[in-house]
Amino acid sequence: MALPKNLKDEFTELVTHYPESRAGLIPALHRCQEDLGGWITPEIMEDLAEFFGIEPVEVYGVASFYPMFRLTPPGENVIKVCHNISCDLRGASDVLEKAKELTGADVHGTSADGKFTLEVVECQGCCSTAPMIDLNDQFHENLTLDELERLIGGCK
Ligand code: FES
Repeated sequence: MALPKNLKDEFTELVTHYPESRAGLIPALHRCQEDLGGWITPEIMEDLAEFFGIEPVEVYGVASFYPMFRLTPPGENVIKVCHNISCDLRGASDVLEKAKELTGADVHGTSADGKFTLEVVECQGCCSTAPMIDLNDQFHENLTLDELERLIGGCK
Protein backbone atom coordinates (compact mmCIF):
# COMPACT_ATOMS: atom_id res chain seq x y z
CA MET A 1 0.00 0.00 0.00
CA ALA A 2 1.73 3.18 -1.21
CA LEU A 3 -0.89 5.57 0.12
CA PRO A 4 -0.31 6.34 3.82
CA LYS A 5 -3.18 6.74 6.25
CA ASN A 6 -2.67 10.50 6.69
CA LEU A 7 -3.15 11.07 2.95
CA LYS A 8 -6.13 8.73 2.81
CA ASP A 9 -7.71 10.68 5.66
CA GLU A 10 -6.95 13.95 3.88
CA PHE A 11 -8.49 12.69 0.63
CA THR A 12 -11.57 11.42 2.46
CA GLU A 13 -12.15 15.00 3.65
CA LEU A 14 -11.13 16.46 0.28
CA VAL A 15 -13.77 14.61 -1.72
CA THR A 16 -16.54 16.07 0.43
CA HIS A 17 -15.88 19.36 -1.41
CA TYR A 18 -16.76 17.93 -4.82
CA PRO A 19 -20.04 16.76 -6.33
CA GLU A 20 -18.23 13.63 -7.56
CA SER A 21 -15.35 12.16 -5.59
CA ARG A 22 -13.23 11.53 -8.70
CA ALA A 23 -12.97 15.32 -9.15
CA GLY A 24 -10.52 15.19 -6.24
CA LEU A 25 -8.04 13.15 -8.25
CA ILE A 26 -5.90 16.08 -9.45
CA PRO A 27 -5.39 17.63 -5.99
CA ALA A 28 -4.74 14.13 -4.65
CA LEU A 29 -2.06 13.58 -7.30
CA HIS A 30 -0.45 16.88 -6.28
CA ARG A 31 -0.39 15.86 -2.62
CA CYS A 32 1.02 12.43 -3.43
CA GLN A 33 3.78 13.95 -5.53
CA GLU A 34 4.60 16.43 -2.75
CA ASP A 35 4.65 13.89 0.04
CA LEU A 36 5.78 10.66 -1.57
CA GLY A 37 9.12 11.28 -3.23
CA GLY A 38 8.35 13.83 -5.93
CA TRP A 39 6.78 11.51 -8.49
CA ILE A 40 3.74 9.34 -9.10
CA THR A 41 4.69 5.68 -8.88
CA PRO A 42 2.59 2.87 -10.42
CA GLU A 43 1.74 1.79 -6.86
CA ILE A 44 0.41 5.24 -6.01
CA MET A 45 -1.71 5.17 -9.18
CA GLU A 46 -3.18 1.82 -8.18
CA ASP A 47 -3.96 3.03 -4.67
CA LEU A 48 -5.55 6.22 -5.96
CA ALA A 49 -7.63 4.22 -8.42
CA GLU A 50 -8.88 2.04 -5.59
CA PHE A 51 -9.57 5.07 -3.39
CA PHE A 52 -11.52 6.91 -6.10
CA GLY A 53 -13.26 3.80 -7.41
CA ILE A 54 -11.82 4.13 -10.91
CA GLU A 55 -9.46 2.09 -13.06
CA PRO A 56 -5.67 2.56 -12.69
CA VAL A 57 -5.50 3.46 -16.39
CA GLU A 58 -7.76 6.45 -15.70
CA VAL A 59 -5.33 7.69 -13.05
CA TYR A 60 -2.48 7.12 -15.48
CA GLY A 61 -4.39 9.04 -18.15
CA VAL A 62 -4.66 12.10 -15.90
CA ALA A 63 -1.15 11.87 -14.45
CA SER A 64 0.44 11.46 -17.88
CA PHE A 65 -1.63 14.25 -19.47
CA TYR A 66 -0.50 17.08 -17.19
CA PRO A 67 3.20 17.96 -17.35
CA MET A 68 3.30 18.98 -13.68
CA PHE A 69 3.05 15.34 -12.67
CA ARG A 70 6.23 13.30 -12.87
CA LEU A 71 6.11 9.64 -13.76
CA THR A 72 9.82 9.16 -13.11
CA PRO A 73 11.85 10.11 -10.04
CA PRO A 74 13.19 13.68 -10.06
CA GLY A 75 16.79 14.64 -9.44
CA GLU A 76 18.01 16.02 -6.12
CA ASN A 77 17.20 19.55 -7.29
CA VAL A 78 14.25 20.55 -9.44
CA ILE A 79 14.50 23.68 -11.56
CA LYS A 80 11.32 24.96 -13.17
CA VAL A 81 11.79 27.64 -15.79
CA CYS A 82 8.76 29.75 -16.66
CA HIS A 83 8.49 30.25 -20.41
CA ASN A 84 5.27 32.24 -20.67
CA ILE A 85 5.11 35.56 -22.43
CA SER A 86 6.49 37.95 -19.78
CA CYS A 87 9.38 35.68 -18.91
CA ASP A 88 9.98 34.89 -22.56
CA LEU A 89 10.14 38.57 -23.46
CA ARG A 90 12.67 39.09 -20.67
CA GLY A 91 15.06 36.29 -21.51
CA ALA A 92 13.54 32.95 -20.45
CA SER A 93 14.99 31.24 -23.52
CA ASP A 94 18.49 32.30 -22.47
CA VAL A 95 17.77 31.18 -18.90
CA LEU A 96 16.65 27.79 -20.15
CA GLU A 97 19.68 27.32 -22.41
CA LYS A 98 22.02 28.33 -19.60
CA ALA A 99 20.27 25.99 -17.17
CA LYS A 100 20.66 23.12 -19.64
CA GLU A 101 24.33 23.93 -20.09
CA LEU A 102 25.04 24.24 -16.35
CA THR A 103 23.08 21.19 -15.20
CA GLY A 104 23.58 18.80 -18.12
CA ALA A 105 19.84 18.09 -18.01
CA ASP A 106 17.49 18.30 -20.96
CA VAL A 107 14.04 19.84 -20.67
CA HIS A 108 11.83 17.48 -18.65
CA GLY A 109 14.87 15.33 -18.03
CA THR A 110 17.35 14.65 -15.26
CA SER A 111 21.11 15.06 -15.43
CA ALA A 112 23.19 11.88 -15.63
CA ASP A 113 24.49 12.44 -12.10
CA GLY A 114 20.94 12.68 -10.75
CA LYS A 115 21.56 16.17 -9.36
CA PHE A 116 19.13 18.19 -11.47
CA THR A 117 15.74 17.85 -13.09
CA LEU A 118 14.88 20.65 -15.49
CA GLU A 119 11.27 21.51 -16.26
CA VAL A 120 9.53 24.19 -18.30
CA VAL A 121 6.38 25.52 -16.66
CA GLU A 122 3.55 27.91 -17.38
CA CYS A 123 3.15 31.33 -15.76
CA GLN A 124 3.92 31.27 -12.04
CA GLY A 125 2.28 34.63 -11.36
CA CYS A 126 5.52 36.64 -11.14
CA CYS A 127 5.19 38.34 -14.52
CA SER A 128 6.20 41.77 -13.19
CA THR A 129 9.49 40.34 -11.96
CA ALA A 130 10.27 38.18 -14.97
CA PRO A 131 12.24 36.19 -15.81
CA MET A 132 11.89 33.72 -12.99
CA ILE A 133 12.63 30.16 -11.98
CA ASP A 134 11.43 27.95 -9.18
CA LEU A 135 14.38 26.12 -7.64
CA ASN A 136 13.33 23.50 -5.11
CA ASP A 137 10.07 25.35 -4.43
CA GLN A 138 11.75 28.75 -3.97
CA PHE A 139 11.03 31.46 -6.53
CA HIS A 140 13.94 33.49 -7.93
CA GLU A 141 12.76 36.55 -9.80
CA ASN A 142 14.40 39.25 -11.93
CA LEU A 143 16.81 36.45 -12.63
CA THR A 144 20.10 37.15 -14.38
CA LEU A 145 22.30 34.51 -15.97
CA ASP A 146 24.98 35.23 -13.35
CA GLU A 147 22.47 34.66 -10.56
CA LEU A 148 21.33 31.44 -12.22
CA GLU A 149 24.93 30.25 -12.35
CA ARG A 150 25.39 31.11 -8.67
CA LEU A 151 22.18 29.27 -7.69
CA ILE A 152 23.03 26.14 -9.65
CA GLY A 153 26.61 26.24 -8.37
CA GLY A 154 25.22 26.29 -4.85
CA CYS A 155 23.36 23.04 -5.50
CA LYS A 156 26.39 21.12 -6.78
S1 FES B 1 5.15 34.76 -17.48
FE1 FES B 1 6.63 33.96 -16.14
S2 FES B 1 5.76 34.34 -14.21
FE2 FES B 1 4.23 35.04 -15.57
